[in-house]
Amino acid sequence: MSTDQQPRHDPGVFRTKTVEQSIRDTEEPEHALRKSLSAWDLTVFGVGVIIGTGIFVLTGIVAKENAGPATALAFVASGIVCALAALCYAEFASTVPVAGSAYTFAYASIGELPAWIIGWDLVLEFALGTAVVAVGWSGYVRSLMSNVGWDMPAALAGPDVPGGTFDLLAFLLVLLLTVILVVGVKLSARITAVVVAIKVAVVLMVIIAGLFFIKGANYQPFIPKARPQPTGAGLDSPLVQVLFGYAPTNFGVMGIFTAASIVFFAFIGFDVVATAAEETRNPQRDMPRGILGSLLVCTLLYVGVSLVVTGMQHYTQMSASAPLADAFKSVGQPFFAGAISFGAAVGLTTVCMILLLGQTRVFFAMSRDGLLPRFFSVTHPKFRTPYRPTILLGVIIAIVAGFTSLEELAALVNIGTLFAFVIVALGVIVLRRSRPDLHRAFRTPWVPVIPIVSIAASLWLMLNLPAETWLRFAIWMAIGIVVYFLYGYWRSRLGKLGADAKY
Ligand code: ALA
Repeated sequence: MSTDQQPRHDPGVFRTKTVEQSIRDTEEPEHALRKSLSAWDLTVFGVGVIIGTGIFVLTGIVAKENAGPATALAFVASGIVCALAALCYAEFASTVPVAGSAYTFAYASIGELPAWIIGWDLVLEFALGTAVVAVGWSGYVRSLMSNVGWDMPAALAGPDVPGGTFDLLAFLLVLLLTVILVVGVKLSARITAVVVAIKVAVVLMVIIAGLFFIKGANYQPFIPKARPQPTGAGLDSPLVQVLFGYAPTNFGVMGIFTAASIVFFAFIGFDVVATAAEETRNPQRDMPRGILGSLLVCTLLYVGVSLVVTGMQHYTQMSASAPLADAFKSVGQPFFAGAISFGAAVGLTTVCMILLLGQTRVFFAMSRDGLLPRFFSVTHPKFRTPYRPTILLGVIIAIVAGFTSLEELAALVNIGTLFAFVIVALGVIVLRRSRPDLHRAFRTPWVPVIPIVSIAASLWLMLNLPAETWLRFAIWMAIGIVVYFLYGYWRSRLGKLGADAKY
């Protein structure tokens, strides 16, 4: 029997699911998603999720606290890490075009337990990412509302606001998006296209209009001198500084890397494009185009925006909540400031929606494989969407978004995503060896060099995240491993089949 037909049943936790099995699964009518997306849809989808809280909010925070005008360099560093990972993602997505992103890739290459770990990790990334963006969105909407004199009662403005406990707007946004996703991905893609156009227009407006207000003096010094962190070497210091015991600092060259590990959030999303592989008409050709295209567009925009805003306003003066709009206020341009706030509020809606979509698709794929209850992978008879996980997760995330504050969560999202990058890059190397015969519409250049450099670069950014983020991440992953051994290991569809059986 050829390797095409015969699943490789490595025993136990390293059993792998063949690429053919993964593709065959998507053809079972009851568990099939509709194939309706093109390369253009994917790029729009990518840009729709990538540009969000990262550029609209975190730019100001890192310019003020970590990197000054060199924030643009932090975006470049982060963009390089993502481009390396994207080259690996593109090969995998064009080889294994099924729902579930890095989870599916890991299942086809490394084995069931690593795949479970990555799936569990992606659930964390997308769920918390959705919540973070919903909270950011709520902040912009409240700021727009207050422009017209309509202030939200503090108690319903969210935990980030003094006296606030529950973020009503963030909660309602997630519930509304859940309904849209249940109705169908095509509808979502159309809404996305309009919103993405508004968002990109606003970002271009920042760059072009802002050029006229740049003052050279604001770039002095471009890389501010390193200075000691006021908090000392606590758990909130980057792990690399805690590990090697040197005095934690902000700014300087190391500050650029700290900033890069934070603004990394701004790039999250190109990997989500890969989660829609199964819903793409011609994934072999369109996935790499969609992923690399959207990443390139966003990197250029980020570098442009950060150079412009740090040129308009001295970094020490930048706002941490609405830096792009406030840079225009600081030069006496309230009209632009209002338009930017509006664009941000609209734009963050799609980011939130696509993160939620990516999240339900990973959950769906894990359930289809039996690692989570199969109940969740039955698609809706009419809409062909995985409505059960969408509703379950939508409600949980809405509650999390209502009650949690944004900043610490973003770091946790970043560490989870970088970890996924490491596994995907590893997967490319492994699958090239174990399945050299597979057709790869897109091949990562210079394997294994690029994947190895990608792994090193992702690990480096992870090390620049706070020690407490590592701790939280370790706890979440430990829970995942317990769940796997209590449920998935015994219920796995792959595991239930004998070594000689066809899947
Ligand atoms: N990249 C997305 C954002 O910045 C998640 O909001």
